[in-house]
Amino acid sequence: MTEIKASTGAPFARILSVGSAAPSRVVPNEYLLQFIDSSDEWITQRTGIKERRWIGEGENIETLSLAASEQAIERAGIDRTQIGAVILSTISHYHQTPALAPQLATRLGIPDAAAYDISAACAGFCYGLAQAESIVRSGQATYVLLIAGETISEMTDLNDRGTAFLFGDGAGAVIVGPSETNGIGPVVWGSDGGQAGAIWQTADWHSAVENGTWPKLGMDGRAVFKWATSFIAQATKNCLDGAGLTPEQLDVFIPHQANDRITDTLLRYLKLPENVVVARTIRQYGNNSAATIPMAMDALLSSGEAKSGQTALVIGFGAGLVYAGQVITLP
Ligand code: UT7
Repeated sequence: MTEIKASTGAPFARILSVGSAAPSRVVPNEYLLQFIDSSDEWITQRTGIKERRWIGEGENIETLSLAASEQAIERAGIDRTQIGAVILSTISHYHQTPALAPQLATRLGIPDAAAYDISAACAGFCYGLAQAESIVRSGQATYVLLIAGETISEMTDLNDRGTAFLFGDGAGAVIVGPSETNGIGPVVWGSDGGQAGAIWQTADWHSAVENGTWPKLGMDGRAVFKWATSFIAQATKNCLDGAGLTPEQLDVFIPHQANDRITDTLLRYLKLPENVVVARTIRQYGNNSAATIPMAMDALLSSGEAKSGQTALVIGFGAGLVYAGQVITLP
């Protein structure tokens, strides 16, 4: 057999930088009460959400993704022409083809990078991080720009009492690059297509055209809540085990921001020490789907609550159903 040369990369990978962008329009709970029978009190108590950001004039998934990416590139202090792959994780870009990532790469001045979109809903950032880590370690690219951008407000049914208040728009981006020490633990990921009906899109392309209906998101909130507080709790523990760490060795916990009560349950399950910094960005941003984790990471680092070099656990879960998480060193 003819021997084919294999690619070889860095011994380890780590996140070098993070950036994020939230739209300027602030939407408080009160705004939604004209559409659904609810109250600020109910939404706050049941989810933690006080307000969310929705795109306004001149803002869209592209502007948010570009802003987050520029920040991440600048903070990494690298020459952008060394970025060999650009991955965009999104479920709210309305073109199945072409993907948005190649256009973002061109707009960012990153020539000839491999560029593609992935669809893993609220687990999308952690799915992308697993890919980025492998790409760097296998030498397929020196640096990877991983972007998570979502404009779920455009898919939100304002009259649906179960989801109208949940989602927000935004983007986050990280640069993943080579490292002498390991900064990204083994991914714990999986899926359960048997629960595809737990979070759904109300119309596919055919029915959208036939019925003239714009696809919205629907969700069996109770079913997802139950799954998140049982199966995902164990998966979160598996992320720590996979990285060979105990809860005491963790500094920061950044779970997907789907519901403060889910976060509370995960904390109880993991028995994390009191001093662990916990992301609670759901309060001002709502659930940003794939963009949630990098937006929360940037918020914690920018506010000084979390510090560069600390050890954090990230885990995302959502439509599919899918989940992914890993232990990381904060950039
Ligand atoms: O990112 C993807 C992953 N998504 C998630 O992880 C979301 C997981 N699910 C959830 O976060 C929660 O299920 C929701 C926040 C969506 C809903 O909260 P819940 O505590 O599960 O509400 P529920 O559907 O069990 O309803 C409880 C009560 C009901 O009243 P009764 O029957 O107890 O009298 C509902 O009618 O709350 C009522 N209710 C509302 N009341 C005011 C349901 N929706 C509302 C509302 N405002 N919007």
